[in-house]
Amino acid sequence: MIQLYHVYKRYPNGVEALNDVNLRLHESEFVFLSGPSGAGKTTLVKILLGYERPTSGQVLVNGRNLAVLSEGSIPYLRRNIGVVWQDFKLLNSRTVFDNVSISLEILGLRPKEIQRRVTQILEVVGLESYATARPQMLSGGEQQRVAIARALVNEPAILLADEPTGNLDPDLSVEIMNLLLDLQQRGTTVMVATHDKYLIERYSRRTILLNRGYLVEDGMGDAASYLDDDDEEFAGR
Ligand SMILES: Nc1ncnc2c1ncn2[C@@H]1O[C@H](COP(=O)(O)OP(=O)(O)O)[C@@H](O)[C@H]1O
Ligand SMILES: [Mg+2]
Repeated sequence: MIQLYHVYKRYPNGVEALNDVNLRLHESEFVFLSGPSGAGKTTLVKILLGYERPTSGQVLVNGRNLAVLSEGSIPYLRRNIGVVWQDFKLLNSRTVFDNVSISLEILGLRPKEIQRRVTQILEVVGLESYATARPQMLSGGEQQRVAIARALVNEPAILLADEPTGNLDPDLSVEIMNLLLDLQQRGTTVMVATHDKYLIERYSRRTILLNRGYLVEDGMGDAASYLDDDDEEFAGR
């Protein structure tokens, strides 16, 4: 499903964000991508989405090698990978329904099909009664559920979430995590990038730990012990 072989990412300013990362994710797997701030989590997420290219190494997503993917094929790649960011990235000028339906409109689906799919996915995330609301009227947790619905409406095989609970209170974080685990139960491969050690401790799941661009641990082990309570302290290490 997702495979990385000896992936390096060096930014133009010389920062080595990923160093020889090797990784394999299976279908319907749930994994945490953890590590302190600056470890390379977001870089890895961006590489999987084709927003950044690896400097060297191979990245396979559903059998496609992203290192050699043409610019023109990247929209097709992104159709198979849903993504959720920390700051939701919702359009306040549009209703909840219209935020979720955008990608289906771009695909040119018929209005009836769009209505059916958006209604269904809003039910999955528990927001069926909010279809005509504006995002700014909703709580942070609800806004993140809209973003998750938007990421899922194309029925992607893979869902990437980059610090999806970073702007949420602890109980809303739990609510979002339960939704993400529920989606994995339905067959989606879910990768959650987070530096929140409480989340990782609470849900004992496969955890891939990055530190300064190196993959230092991959397993059910004690990744949380690498994460400080005050993440900022780690940033410069
Ligand atoms: N566009 C960029 N240009 C230069 N350096 C970057 C860029 N994006 C991230 N970095 C650097 O790469 C490292 C990894 O960053 P990032 O992937 O955002 O880590 P994380 O998501 O784990 O906090 C950091 O040192 C960061 O400053
Ligand atoms: Mg990040």
